Amino acid sequence: MPPGSSEKVVSVHNDISKVLFSEQDLANRVREIGENITADYAEVAGEAGIVVISVLRGGAVYTCDLIRCIDMPLEVDFMAVSSYGSGVKSSGVVRILKDLATDIRGRHVIVAEDIIDSGLTLKYLLEMLQSRGPASLAVAGLLRKDVPNQADIDCRYVGFECPDEFIVGYGLDYAEHYRNLPYIGVLKPEIYQ
Ligand code: IMP
Ligand code: MG
Repeated sequence: MPPGSSEKVVSVHNDISKVLFSEQDLANRVREIGENITADYAEVAGEAGIVVISVLRGGAVYTCDLIRCIDMPLEVDFMAVSSYGSGVKSSGVVRILKDLATDIRGRHVIVAEDIIDSGLTLKYLLEMLQSRGPASLAVAGLLRKDVPNQADIDCRYVGFECPDEFIVGYGLDYAEHYRNLPYIGVLKPEIYQ
């Protein structure tokens, strides 16, 4: 059966109870972050430029929009990590599923992360990247959740502070779905209960 002719149309939008950040909110804020990075790194970047590291898979959509709002020489590379442990909470011990292809020694590095929740994944990742000797290392997080006892992370750029709810869209998933929503919203509880 060709696409579009199925009997049951399954829309991902139906499972969202509330939109937190619209497509336009995201576009505006990502543009601002890109402009701030362009201004902040203009002098140090030089011809080699900066390295933007995207943390897969959640950070992919954000990264692709962000790099197009940065006006300077730039390389983009991808890392995939998975938090050890069971359940939905980070354990803080991270397994590298895909490492960088780029040697970041002496480079100015920006890590583009979708969301900082406990902060444990990012804390571990930053320590590992720091040990590789970059000239500088900064974080551009799209979202930071308002949760108690978040790991102390120096996040140079934060797109939005967000409530402690389970959110999806614009790269963020629930069970690998909803990454393709163009906005960020709260999932209806009946979906995961
Ligand atoms: P942390 O180690 O607790 O900060 O977890 C970070 C990772 O968990 C993020 O990079 C996301 O991939 C994922 N995550 C945390 N909160 C949410 C959420 O509300 N929706 C979807 N993924 C989330
Ligand atoms: Mg992530």
